[in-house]
Amino acid sequence: MAGRIPRQFIDDLAARSDLVEVVSSRLTLKKKGKDYWGLCPFHNEKSPSFSVSPDKQFYYCFGCGASGNALSFIMEHDHLDFVEAVEALARMQGLDVPREEGMQTSAQQQEARRQKEKQVQQYRAMQLAQEFFQQQLNKPEGLEGLTYLKEKRGLSEAILQTFGLGVAPDQWSALKDQLTQAGITEAQQLELGLLAQKEETGRVYDRFRNRVIFPIRNVHGQVIGFGGRVLDDSKPKYLNSPETPLFHKGQELYGLYEARKQPGRLEKLLVVEGYMDVVALAQQGVQGAVATLGTATTPEHLRRIFRLVNEVVFCFDGDAAGQQAAERALDNVLPQMVDGRQARFLFLPQGEDPDTLVRKEGAGLFEQRVNQALPLAEFLVRHLSTGLDLKQLDGQIRLAERARPKLQALPGGLLQKRLLASLSQMTGLEASSLLPVKSDPVQATTAPARHSAPQQGRPSGQQLTTLVEKLFRLLARYPELIQQVPEDLDFAQMEAADLDVFLPIINYLRKNPSITPQVLLAYWTATREGEALRVSYQRALELDKQAAALEVEAICSRLRSLTGEKDSQQRYQALLEAAATRLLSEEENRELMQLMQQLPPSHG
Ligand code: GTP
Ligand code: MN
Repeated sequence: MAGRIPRQFIDDLAARSDLVEVVSSRLTLKKKGKDYWGLCPFHNEKSPSFSVSPDKQFYYCFGCGASGNALSFIMEHDHLDFVEAVEALARMQGLDVPREEGMQTSAQQQEARRQKEKQVQQYRAMQLAQEFFQQQLNKPEGLEGLTYLKEKRGLSEAILQTFGLGVAPDQWSALKDQLTQAGITEAQQLELGLLAQKEETGRVYDRFRNRVIFPIRNVHGQVIGFGGRVLDDSKPKYLNSPETPLFHKGQELYGLYEARKQPGRLEKLLVVEGYMDVVALAQQGVQGAVATLGTATTPEHLRRIFRLVNEVVFCFDGDAAGQQAAERALDNVLPQMVDGRQARFLFLPQGEDPDTLVRKEGAGLFEQRVNQALPLAEFLVRHLSTGLDLKQLDGQIRLAERARPKLQALPGGLLQKRLLASLSQMTGLEASSLLPVKSDPVQATTAPARHSAPQQGRPSGQQLTTLVEKLFRLLARYPELIQQVPEDLDFAQMEAADLDVFLPIINYLRKNPSITPQVLLAYWTATREGEALRVSYQRALELDKQAAALEVEAICSRLRSLTGEKDSQQRYQALLEAAATRLLSEEENRELMQLMQQLPPSHG
């Protein structure tokens, strides 16, 4: 634990490491042609689509799209953060990781150590809380809860154990007293959402009381939050941990850790709604069920899922709310449907959820339902044509209108082709009119093209700044798109704001085009550039790569024409001024005439 790792060391380390060596130390690679191939460690597959290029020092999976360099591979594969990955890579090279020294960095050292220790404490507190709840199952205070879990919900001893279920006693400070005794301060317990606080009086009390408790674990099995259910019909039925430094509801999937621990390969994940559904399915032997925590399925959830498996089945109630939830899941999954992935939709009979159904029918029949779930393409077409009469021209046109944004959301590929073909048949419209070549998003949102309107004078710094900011955001999200930025585009010459932040990043990316956003961010940690990257990255989080690539292209051509235009203007001015003091040469005259015709009217 120490100060910052010098950038120079990271650069040298990256230059010295051989990706093939790094990857082969963790999985089996075979050489085929120039590249090496193996089974992708980031998703489940039977034939190798994970390629490692020794020339480019870059890996790419044709199945799941995972890509990056040595550092990002170690980060992803070993579940390490950036610094840990640098340390691991250095160890492979037999190097010690140097740390920056000095007044300021020793303060930083202390701060980093403090942060790390704090986090260790936080995980420990959550772990102790989980153990406390679990122990209550065997105490008189927990008897009612235990009875509820076993008799009312039919859970076995073994499954309670697997998921670490517990019960919070009907007391105001049982957990608090226990944790305080273990040296965890009230402030820490509050920050972790274990305690709640009355606003008026400031009094603190156990957040979870008289509820059965579902611990929520991260991928490493560490407890990060809790869900608690009442034992009767009172409200609210479920209570979750609030957002805390450890717990982010929109990213976590309940049951994912437990699903991964199951023996055998995970082929697909089943996304259900409730804690009880996950636990009941696991008990009945249906594997791979996970639940979102009272939210819709987010893109981040889906990224996590597709990192593990190629197939996801969304499970919904058969009612209107279920239908709506399905539509949201559909919209979120479309941008991630690269070839090789599958998504399907399962609608349960009215009034049933996976918990009740699997108890009634058993695992076999339930799995049959899962296997017969609607493929995305069918669900989409069915959903799009709901309420339309496709024999009428009007219905066909409306179908086309509905289909267009969905088709555009797909990242190209076979699914898009197939859908395009069937929708084109259903609407009688040509494929090209269903999926128009994406319009130039930059041209559309900024100035109109040259000559198209009598625009204000010279390309303003503002215009350039907006474009450069946009480009920066896109690159923060998809650093590899730097390869589409022409090398002769000279940002240093542009009169855009914030170039001092932008230029170092551009130059760094030009040298490291295969870096992942995570590594990029980590590399610039605790700098102004890093802060700008972080903000930009977050703003571009939901952006899909294909759209980003198109936009980068458009921005670059716009930048080129703007800077080119600016050169012409300067030249034009210079020639005009020269003409006022001397006779222009024949060549200069010709150039002046030419420029006069080229530039927008307001310059003439
Ligand atoms: P059981 O009645 O125990 O079978 O619950 P369930 O798992 O069938 O839950 P339900 O379908 O009612 O809700 C599904 C999920 O939504 C739950 O697992 C919770 O994550 C969430 N949820 C339900 N009710 C509440 C609530 O009152 N508050 C919060 N925050 N979340 C809830
Ligand atoms: Mn239920």
